Amino acid sequence: VLAGKCPFGGDRIGGAQTTPPTLQDWYPNRLRVEQLHRNGPQANPLGDFDYNGAFEAIDLQALKQEIKTFLTSSVAWWPSDYGNYGPQMIRMAWHAAGTYRIADGRGGAGEAMQRFAPIDSWWDNGNTDKSRRLIWPIKQKYGAALSWGDLMVLTGNCALEIMGFPTYGFAGGRHDSWEADDATYWGPEVVDMTTVSSFDEMVNRDKRWRGSNGDADYDLEQPLAATHQSLIYVNPEGPYANGDPQASARDIRIAFTRMAMNDEETVALIAGGHAFGKSHGMVKADRIGAPPEMAPLEQMGLGWHNPEGSGAGEFTMTNGIEGSWTPDPTQWDNSYLENLFKFEWEQTRSPAGALQWTPVDKTAPQTPDAHIPGKTHPLMMMTSDLALKVDPVYRPICERFLADFDYFTLQFSKAWYKLTHRDMGPKERYLGPEKTLQDDLLWQDPIPPVDHPLIDDADIDALKRQILDTGLSVSDLAFAAFSSASTFRVTDKRGGANGARIALAPQKDWAINRRAIPVIERLRAVVAHFNDSATGGKRVSLADMIVLGGCVAVERAAADAGEAVAVPFVPGRMDTTDDRTDADSFEWLRPVVDGFRNFVDDQFEEIVEGRLSPEQVFLDRAALLGLSAPEWVALTGGLRMLGSNWDGSSDGIFTDRVGTLTNDFFTVLTSMDYEWKKADERGHRFHLTTRDGGETRFSATRNDLIFGANSQLRAIAEVYASHDGHRKLVRDFVAAWTKVMMADRFDQKRDGRSD
Ligand code: HEM
Repeated sequence: VLAGKCPFGGDRIGGAQTTPPTLQDWYPNRLRVEQLHRNGPQANPLGDFDYNGAFEAIDLQALKQEIKTFLTSSVAWWPSDYGNYGPQMIRMAWHAAGTYRIADGRGGAGEAMQRFAPIDSWWDNGNTDKSRRLIWPIKQKYGAALSWGDLMVLTGNCALEIMGFPTYGFAGGRHDSWEADDATYWGPEVVDMTTVSSFDEMVNRDKRWRGSNGDADYDLEQPLAATHQSLIYVNPEGPYANGDPQASARDIRIAFTRMAMNDEETVALIAGGHAFGKSHGMVKADRIGAPPEMAPLEQMGLGWHNPEGSGAGEFTMTNGIEGSWTPDPTQWDNSYLENLFKFEWEQTRSPAGALQWTPVDKTAPQTPDAHIPGKTHPLMMMTSDLALKVDPVYRPICERFLADFDYFTLQFSKAWYKLTHRDMGPKERYLGPEKTLQDDLLWQDPIPPVDHPLIDDADIDALKRQILDTGLSVSDLAFAAFSSASTFRVTDKRGGANGARIALAPQKDWAINRRAIPVIERLRAVVAHFNDSATGGKRVSLADMIVLGGCVAVERAAADAGEAVAVPFVPGRMDTTDDRTDADSFEWLRPVVDGFRNFVDDQFEEIVEGRLSPEQVFLDRAALLGLSAPEWVALTGGLRMLGSNWDGSSDGIFTDRVGTLTNDFFTVLTSMDYEWKKADERGHRFHLTTRDGGETRFSATRNDLIFGANSQLRAIAEVYASHDGHRKLVRDFVAAWTKVMMADRFDQKRDGRSD
């Protein structure tokens, strides 16, 4: 009877692991707590590999020479334009780094995310799959000792150098990610990516803007920096492909500002980058196949199949615009700006139909064909290039660059260095002989190096006693320490306790830090007293003292709860200064929601326009701190018991013993003796009443109740609420606390990792 049937019983399989519908299809509003564990150690085939040691062992000059030799070669499956792969590699490196955005520090070249969805398949990354595949033999040769992140940036540098451009330096130290990023918000639009021609539809669909280009309130939603879904920055044909250079300039300014670039850096990057290479638009977009993530299996990870001719070389179709900006596209010179300003430009269309510009003057210099000897073409500009000429701020910058090529070269060199290293964090993380350690750059958030003997164990004990003698409460000390350290974000490794920037503008003026400032002033007196009387040049920094105050608080709170613990403390932080602090750039670190301190910005509703709940933004903060779900739960519950609300309120402080590290938060949270009722119409605050008498006992916010309402967080809360949970909570809280305090101490971390 069973003959011909599958021996396992069924002959129809309708689904497998991950077949839709997924949880997100069923319950789109659920908090995706599991995203905290993205790119976990299980995903990493290298395990506990010492990348930094391996990279440092590479002979960088030999590696660079190999890359440079490759750059001037050509292979049949993807012939190099002008016999030089340099320009396409510069674009690959720029697109790797250019996803960076300052609002949350996400994006950037650091994790080599150009290899994975969604970025590998963005319209703007067309044919960067070919660039990465071309350098695979070099990656293969160096293996684990050379990350994709480092190789892509280094190849961009080598490309610039072989074409006569002096780079400012190169630092290795980028640790590759091993999986796609399903968590970063890249904008609200969902577009059909089946073929690149769908981009035409997409440009009319973007939902990320408020107002119209040119209106005073024209604005791009946060944390985005790209003006369109699936682009790195702006549409080269102008907003909505409208061919309007002035409107393009407005988009460029918004996009590049969000990338942390000022006007001069923006002009330097665009004018510098477009001194090289060409745009590709020989084939209509509707002939081009799907991007890598949707391409047929046999294309083996490559996308954008081009059926025309060889599909490469003179048939290449990438963006759709066709041509080069300069007469010598493989040489660093000033002809991009010279020609931009010397000629009037008129609109024309590429063979693919894209809108572009060509000199009105037909005697203008021509540019050689990239593949056919003897053939030449008129020069090309994009609408986004003409933007530099028409914008009243960009134009004088161009004129200065035109008049002083060396100055332009230096500014582009520095801007390229910033672009490609912006997300690496402090210079302690930089590796290799070209890391340009000799000068500090403001965007590196410099902190002076330790230049004196550090405090020892006896000093630490004495200072702890002096801190207690100030009479500062456990709550205040813990609040100040947490406020100081918790600006850290794993994404671009900015913020943290080192430097004591909490005592400087803008952080000292943030409402959320108000409670910390008087505490810090008291601690400053302890610092002064110690340093005045210390011998042998020994000193303690305010940054260390703030963290030590936190140790004192947590140890006392744990001891009062019957659990003696030692909270690790490692001195070595230094205090930085206003002139080493880019206040505007630090303003981006100001939290809108910080559930750890039970803070929600007054303007929250207007800021999120009803599209996000406070707990979603709280989850984002936990992710920026690099916390796991258990760490997030333990830290929040513990902070409530320490009394660390920003405004001193009692929301979420479910205890009669504030300042004692009990597990009361969790026992109340999970207890069925109580019920919760909304205290306001929008459901941002709640009252807890006893089920029997209806007596109101405690109040809470969404950022408290989420730990009992969300099923994954509740499962963890149950651990800490159980009879055997208190000791575990104290241990886990101390570990999570220490992780936050040490998050920016790259001098103490093997491999420069932030986790
Ligand atoms: C090529 C747009 C900024 C470096 C291109 C292409 C487009 C484009 C459409 C042609 C792609 C193709 O079809 O192959 C833009 C826009 C920018 C911008 C809209 C900002 C407003 C930059 C920056 C750099 C850069 C900042 C580097 C510092 C290059 C290079 C190429 C290129 C080297 C030539 C690639 C090749 O020859 O294959 N750009 N770009 N671009 N871009 Fe940009």
